[in-house]
Amino acid sequence: MRLDKLLAHTGYGTRKEVKQLITSGVVRINDEICKKIGQAVKIDSDVVTVMNQPVFYQEYYYYILNKPAGIISATEDNYHETVIDWLGPDFSYMELFPVGRLDIDTTGLLLLSNNGQLAHQLLSPKKKVSKRYEAEIEGIVTEEDIEAFSQGLDLEDFISQPAQLLVHSTDEESNRSWIEVEIWEGKFHQVKRMFEKVGKKVLTLKRKSMGPLELEEDLEEGMWRELTEEERNALVPFGYE
Ligand code: URA
Repeated sequence: MRLDKLLAHTGYGTRKEVKQLITSGVVRINDEICKKIGQAVKIDSDVVTVMNQPVFYQEYYYYILNKPAGIISATEDNYHETVIDWLGPDFSYMELFPVGRLDIDTTGLLLLSNNGQLAHQLLSPKKKVSKRYEAEIEGIVTEEDIEAFSQGLDLEDFISQPAQLLVHSTDEESNRSWIEVEIWEGKFHQVKRMFEKVGKKVLTLKRKSMGPLELEEDLEEGMWRELTEEERNALVPFGYE
């Protein structure tokens, strides 16, 4: 890999800033000052330092964001703040994108990565990756609804696969239910449309898990963290290397 590309991909600035860094003589390869912008670097064996600090190259990055409401699952948008804007400019060199979509008002687990292969696998309908959501519902969710979800619902343009619906609690007075639903596909507005089909409305929706990844309670809304080694290993069947 070219030296300027390596430094740009490890967060040392834009290509222009990186060029200035190299020509200023603070970059060394195997202890020798290197001022050649396009110098070839062997990622696996050369030791590159900037101001005596070693440079660690990573091809792929993986983050879990607890997405807040009000931002969209996209990389850029003319009208709305995106999940990538939310992370801020320090992350731009990673070229992350959201793996899948959550609606603007949906909160919870969103995987951000720059690994396109992995995203493709996790989102492939063939892989039947589980997604678990918690929701507050307007209406009282009944045994019939649970049965209808388990059979699959005719949503006009497609019939949903069987989904597992669990009622945590209901309140007749306020006409509310608190539920958990697990689906193994991910069509646009799927959970909302499934509830609409049984005459109810999703008031809040939060994703709790996606495949082997779980959102833990202590990751506050709006916060993110890198995947743990255990989580990365759990993604091996989906192309994590
Ligand atoms: N289903 C929905 O309706 N919305 C989401 O954001 C995710 C699943």
